[in-house]
Amino acid sequence: MSIAPRIPSLLLNEDINLPTPSIIYDVAAIKHVIQSLLNDIRVIPEATLLYSVKANRNPTILRLLADMGLGVDVASIEELQAVKKAGFEIIHATSPSFSADEIKMLREAGIFPDFNSLSQLELARIELGSLEEVGLRVKFPLLLSEEEGETTFGEGSRFGINLFEPSIKSYLIKHQIEVKQIHIHLGEMRNVHVMEQVMKSIAKLVKIYPSIESINLGGGLTYLYSDQDEAKNVWKMVATYMEDIQYTLGRSIKLMVEPGMLLMAMCGYLLSSVRSSDWGNDSRNVTLDASAWNLMYWSYPVLVKAYTQNVEEEIHTLYGNTCYEKDIFIQSSINPRLETGDRVLLAPAGAYVTSMARNMHGFPVPMEFILVDDEIYKTGDDYANHSKIQTLPYQ
Ligand SMILES: Cc1ncc(COP(=O)(O)O)c(C=O)c1O
Repeated sequence: MSIAPRIPSLLLNEDINLPTPSIIYDVAAIKHVIQSLLNDIRVIPEATLLYSVKANRNPTILRLLADMGLGVDVASIEELQAVKKAGFEIIHATSPSFSADEIKMLREAGIFPDFNSLSQLELARIELGSLEEVGLRVKFPLLLSEEEGETTFGEGSRFGINLFEPSIKSYLIKHQIEVKQIHIHLGEMRNVHVMEQVMKSIAKLVKIYPSIESINLGGGLTYLYSDQDEAKNVWKMVATYMEDIQYTLGRSIKLMVEPGMLLMAMCGYLLSSVRSSDWGNDSRNVTLDASAWNLMYWSYPVLVKAYTQNVEEEIHTLYGNTCYEKDIFIQSSINPRLETGDRVLLAPAGAYVTSMARNMHGFPVPMEFILVDDEIYKTGDDYANHSKIQTLPYQ
């Protein structure tokens, strides 16, 4: 079963009557991606799936994921408030910038943040009075090829603490702090070679810090899932390491993964209208009513559907609506000729689009809708409209 969701036929068959620009999330796709990933990680003992809220904090999406029984990872108090409202029960947190008050707020909410740096840990120790058990975001050296080094970061990452450093171990001993959880996110875990180094380091760390009870492997699974066989091999290898670690410790140990991009990116579409269409420089230059610069800075958009009466194909460049020369959605796209007033559907728009939208020229973030059972609803705080979205817990 491919993790890539099917494009909803409703969107392929007709130009649905929604204002543009709009973003449409497909509930069936979200359920499919989550179920596929859960099936894959089932080979690992004690593995659970969390969702990294930074990818998309739309309240309806969050409510849907909470209803499915997923846990979450948050990186700000704003994300915390959003997940509380959505009803999540399992909440993890890590951020390089939590203030003393924010750390207190998290602890009062029953959340033990994974501290990102020694200074943050020291801040928490002083402000909270005492700190006996902690979660830590960790990093360690990775031997990466030049290509891997473009998307994966080892000890050069600006996030995390290198627990192999003797001075860190001395600090923890001096203050009688026990490490209960380690949290790793070193960019893209793109293949067996990268993930195996991570698992080797974890296996060593667990021997040095036998108090560790849970391991969070972070996100960064999107690149890996461009090759599903490689993904399966990764989980098989992680399972072997986890079995060995459990054997060494003589007890079970939890493992979490917390992707954002992989869970949501392919589940969202951007619907946009053509504002101008002119031939020039060997291409039809089309300007849409949305901006790639404002919305799709982290995406590589593809044209899913051109809603036009035209059938003859031409080479197009699809530009965004800002005055920025490089505001480009797609270059050299061959598709039916688009004219002013035609509309297009672009993907992927489900992750890191609304959650990190820019607002050049004051353009608002597009309205967000959700597609469920061939019907489309506006998303928002009012979840009551969406009884159809409710679902049985997964896992
Ligand atoms: C700690 C942590 N976890 C999870 C993620 C999610 O990563 P992705 O969206 O690539 O899965 C990030 C992304 O920055 C992160 O910093």
